Amino acid sequence: MTSLPRRHTLTRLGATAAGLLLPAAPLLAQPTATPPSLDVPYVPTPQEVVERMLQMAKVGKNDVLFDLGCGDGRIVVTAAKAHGARGTGIDLDPERIGEARKNAEQAGVTKQVNFKVADLFETDVSPATVVTLYLLPNVNTRLRPQLWKQLKVGSRVVSHAFDMGPEWPPEKTESVEGRTIYYWTIKEAHKRAAAKA
Ligand SMILES: C[S@@+](CC[C@H](N)C(=O)[O-])C[C@H]1O[C@@H](n2cnc3c(N)ncnc32)[C@H](O)[C@@H]1O
Repeated sequence: MTSLPRRHTLTRLGATAAGLLLPAAPLLAQPTATPPSLDVPYVPTPQEVVERMLQMAKVGKNDVLFDLGCGDGRIVVTAAKAHGARGTGIDLDPERIGEARKNAEQAGVTKQVNFKVADLFETDVSPATVVTLYLLPNVNTRLRPQLWKQLKVGSRVVSHAFDMGPEWPPEKTESVEGRTIYYWTIKEAHKRAAAKA
């Protein structure tokens, strides 16, 4: 029987400074789930507020809705089930995306919706006609240039609880269940400003 050269044997098993033979690191390593570093914690939008957000944006069957930071997918699933829209939900947390996919299955809308584990700041939102948000003021402000650059003129943006700062005042606001909903549309002027930036 031919034995492995000594150098190879040590590399494979691993050698400590004390000369003890231990299994090599790759054999010891256990896969560990690193929690994603979120820009916003998970807090779901109450269903009455979801409905009002979709009504405010007049979501219909010709719409493509993106929920950036979609949580359990309730906005995308409701847009599909109650308004006939297609939708995409993006969330950095794989657990949320798992829940969203289950919710879509239970609602029978898997053909209309799509959920992805991704960073919202690295997502191309150009296919959207409606974008929904429930993030934080500083996250909305960071997102604004991306929305102006990528969305088509006439696309609607609806945000639960937080506005877009002084550079983009909302066109409409509504109050539901003590929550404020903000509404904007993309205009030619936004596209021109984004092109210059
Ligand atoms: C306040 S919750 C809103 C959930 C859902 N949109 C709703 O209204 O019910 C914010 C969500 O954003 C997700 N999130 C935080 N930072 C993110 C990032 N950089 N990219 C994608 N998702 C993110 C969180 O995991 C969380 O599910």
